[in-house]
Amino acid sequence: MRKVNSSLVVLMTCMVVASIEFHSSTAKEFMVGGPFGWGVPHNHKFHDKWSNHHTFKSHDVLIFNFTGKLSNNDIAEVTREAYLKCDSKNPISHQTINLARFNLKNTSMNNHYYICIIHQNCKLGHKLSITVSLRR
Ligand SMILES: *[C@@H]1O[C@H](CO)[C@@H](O)[C@H](O)[C@H]1NC(C)=O
Ligand SMILES: *[C@@H]1O[C@H](CO)[C@@H](O)[C@H](O)[C@H]1NC(C)=O
Repeated sequence: MRKVNSSLVVLMTCMVVASIEFHSSTAKEFMVGGPFGWGVPHNHKFHDKWSNHHTFKSHDVLIFNFTGKLSNNDIAEVTREAYLKCDSKNPISHQTINLARFNLKNTSMNNHYYICIIHQNCKLGHKLSITVSLRR
């Protein structure tokens, strides 16, 4: 009986370790907007086009790069309503430091919305919506 129990513990430990490794090896980091970075785009639809060309999974990380000539920017995660209206009043979270990281780990949200809350940037297309793919 003792022997059975201890091999069961070993088996379960292996499974836990395997699932942790699975997570870390599959989580990806994305530089939002590619080489352009996180700024007011020339084309209103630029950031959403970028988003549509990638597949995001839960626990992936978005990195917002706003350095150099983009340094006068910030990044807030907001609700869908706030994204649509460019409403900056009550963001879910807000970061002002360059290379801001947002983890797509809230598995109860399939969609994430981000806007720049400086000036009228959001209205100029400085906004992003992300759909998390449910398939791993
Ligand atoms: C962020 O953007 C700047 C300017 O485009 C670029 O030089 C820099 O390499 C980028 N940072 C990272 C970590 O990719
Ligand atoms: C995750 O998302 C749900 C639904 O929007 C929200 O109610 C909850 O507060 C979020 N949890 C965290 C830790 O942000």
